[in-house]
Amino acid sequence: MPDLRQKAATASTADKQPADALVLFGAMGDLAHKKIFPALYNMVRRGRLNVPVIGVARAGRTDQHLKERARDSVKQKGGNVDEAALSKLESLLRYVGGDYQNPHTFEALKKALASSQRPAHYLAIPPSLFESVVQSLDRSGCMRNARVIVEKPFGHNLESAQQLNAALHAILPESSIFRIDHYLGKEAVLNLLIFRFANSFLEPIWNRNYIESVQITMAENFGIEGRGAFYDDTGAIRDVVENHMLQVVAFLAMEPPTCLHGESVRDETAKVFRTIPALDPRNLVRGQFDGYKKEEGVAPDSKVETFAAVRLEVRSWRWSGVPFLIRAGKCLPVTATEVFVRLRKPPLESLPGSTSNSFHFTLGPGEISMSLNAQVKRPGEAMVSMPARLCAVEGQTADEMDAYERLLGDAMHGDAMLFVREDAVESAWAVVEPILGNVSPLYSYRPGTWGPKEADALAEDIGGWHNPKKNAAGACSD
Ligand code: BG6
Repeated sequence: MPDLRQKAATASTADKQPADALVLFGAMGDLAHKKIFPALYNMVRRGRLNVPVIGVARAGRTDQHLKERARDSVKQKGGNVDEAALSKLESLLRYVGGDYQNPHTFEALKKALASSQRPAHYLAIPPSLFESVVQSLDRSGCMRNARVIVEKPFGHNLESAQQLNAALHAILPESSIFRIDHYLGKEAVLNLLIFRFANSFLEPIWNRNYIESVQITMAENFGIEGRGAFYDDTGAIRDVVENHMLQVVAFLAMEPPTCLHGESVRDETAKVFRTIPALDPRNLVRGQFDGYKKEEGVAPDSKVETFAAVRLEVRSWRWSGVPFLIRAGKCLPVTATEVFVRLRKPPLESLPGSTSNSFHFTLGPGEISMSLNAQVKRPGEAMVSMPARLCAVEGQTADEMDAYERLLGDAMHGDAMLFVREDAVESAWAVVEPILGNVSPLYSYRPGTWGPKEADALAEDIGGWHNPKKNAAGACSD
């Protein structure tokens, strides 16, 4: 299989000049500390980052504070630290401080960018600030030949996503806008595309004639980790269903990208979103874990879901009639994301013990696995079958590229294949729009359980939910 990315890169070179500076808004924030500095460090280590990185944050700090923050972030990741790479990253860092509403902040940034012709501005800041920051960047002259990398959530519903798109497009062309969904940068998620399109045995059966149902579960065994104010305004559907989960659906359901031009993966993704009818609240079960309302930043009478299970259809020639089920929640028994694809039963019902085959992909964290549940003859006299599992487990390679590193590198090089395009983000919001807010009962569940039992009914006719195991190796042994 040719490298889809190389195809994309050679298809249009006009927008592919590498950025010559990275501006990081929210440089002292949580996301920068958890994900972005480690990604930048790894980019330096691999020789993929060699341009000034300007961290913008509130006033009162210095270059030294920024460097210490970056060092602390890289060290807390553990493992051996490459001191030379870390010092190099420190040497690239510059601090610009000030309020995001104050024009002086952007004047100072303009000065710091004096020698840059093509900056990339990364907005790792609360979404409510996206529009005004982009406008201030434009007014201050910092947007010339620039790219913008926008964190999720992109909008709060369809209307706000459309407004945000319009506000960005008033200043930048689509080819300069990079909407992040970090699931698109994950090795295991990208593997779904390769597994589907690089194996010819799969194509004849990857459709409604052979596949009975598809389930995707994103389970997290932790709560909202101090993000109460953000989460209570967001909830599970906006936080992970509208983006991460629908992207996984798209990779499972899309038609083969043609590889002939850089947009083909994004075209096929957008097509899947357009074939999913808007979700019906009757096919939704929302839950909230006991104790959520006591979290800091959460309203004492909050009706926000920390668990959502939903059933959808992909109304295409390939998938008509095949239920796709999504389930995502906080405080569940394990942390694991997995895809479970059940095949139709063979017609020989009379063969004792025969059950349907299934494919099972674990998408992390840590190890990833792919398994096929098959039936083989049970040893002995009787002519009966028993389950056997063909399983491949792949541990994380020592030097695996993390999603943020991959995506930041791509954005710096103008490669948009793994970013969410305008039409896709709007179609995804259109899909979830009817299930946003308080549209269905909210059931409580005990932390450490698989969410409210009411969710079981959604999967009753497809053999029930398949619960992920603690780790990928475990997934190979049940
Ligand atoms: C983020 C959500 O987008 O994804 C979090 O805001 C969630 O709530 C996280 O925990 C999961 O990402 P990962 O990479 O840890 O699976």
